[in-house]
Amino acid sequence: MKYNENFEKLPKSYVFSQMAQKIADKKKRGGERIINLGIGDLKLPLFECSVNQMKIACEEMRIEKTFKGYPPAEGYEFLRQKISNEYIDNFISVAPDEVFITDGAKGQLGNILELFGQKSRVLFLTPCYPAGAEANILYGNEVTFLSGSQENGFFPSPPYGEKYDVIYICSPNNPTGSCMTYEKLGEWVNYALFSGSVIVYDNAYSVFVSGDFPKSVYSVKNANKCAIEINSFSKSFGFTGIRCGFTVIPKSVGEYNRLQKRWLGCRCNGVSYISQRGAEAVFSRIGREEVKRRVNFYKTNAEILKIALKNLKLWYNNTVHSPYVFAKTPHGVSSTEFCEYLLEKTSLAVTDGAGFLTGGEGYFRLSAFLPREDILETADRLERIDLGEIATQNR
Ligand code: MLT
Repeated sequence: MKYNENFEKLPKSYVFSQMAQKIADKKKRGGERIINLGIGDLKLPLFECSVNQMKIACEEMRIEKTFKGYPPAEGYEFLRQKISNEYIDNFISVAPDEVFITDGAKGQLGNILELFGQKSRVLFLTPCYPAGAEANILYGNEVTFLSGSQENGFFPSPPYGEKYDVIYICSPNNPTGSCMTYEKLGEWVNYALFSGSVIVYDNAYSVFVSGDFPKSVYSVKNANKCAIEINSFSKSFGFTGIRCGFTVIPKSVGEYNRLQKRWLGCRCNGVSYISQRGAEAVFSRIGREEVKRRVNFYKTNAEILKIALKNLKLWYNNTVHSPYVFAKTPHGVSSTEFCEYLLEKTSLAVTDGAGFLTGGEGYFRLSAFLPREDILETADRLERIDLGEIATQNR
């Protein structure tokens, strides 16, 4: 029977599925309780304001007069308007009909490629979250990776002389935590305009941006002529289990706003009313305060992890814009080997840097989306590691 042979071009399993399997195997072997600092899934519960609104929405669904069937495919006006206001509050002009409500960033990083057509030339700045690249490979696009390194803060410069149809950028970056400066992002926007490319900007970690760094691609001049921005409420509102996010497609970026509406017609029936009401609630004063409180909480977790790595004399990317800590393995040990060593010896599950495409080998990522006691316990366990032992094994 015929099947999509592009599946053969992907790694045997998805990075986080691989991890889940390793954790399950380790559990069978027994030992200390496993602390999962792998996948960036949130452990703190939903905000109370979201839960209250979702309860009201459920009640509306119970009553015939207020019951809702299919949601509008592009999202309810009440949420699109709130998101538009949020941009306007930050001096960025985004109209409600340029906002599309989605079930989160992961699907959208793949869905969006149908707007560009098959055989597109697509560039990924790596290391990066692999979902978008894998979706492009499956679709048969020509995918190129351009790796950053410690020396350039994990963000390479634009490859003038080469031309791509689409450029995927993730900032603050998953996994490295680096955030593009206005200047660097400006270079990429200028390159995209020069070469006629579209930037797909993965902004899922925007709430973690601190200080004078871009919180949206549109804070850079002319980005509204070449960029589509994808965001998610997973990391900001704790919505990994509820599913809601949004994509901004300015009408000033070619035909894509119109095409997205057409795409929705045949590919999507929208996001549930209940989820969208839960998301809307977070744009209230109480909701915004809660976002700040959670972001600070996770960032403090990240700082605790960094201190433990520092005590171990391991290099880590010292950025303040991320719930992840990206660190270098000791003594040139491969990332897979080091992650397996950590899991075996300390029952700490961390993500293998090699899972984040080129440039990730030799690094590992720790998620700080955990309760404080697990982070403190992780720090204790890390400090018990004997790196000399790894060096000896690696000789
Ligand atoms: C991550 O841990 O990088 C992501 O949150 C996992 C995912 O969304 O698939």
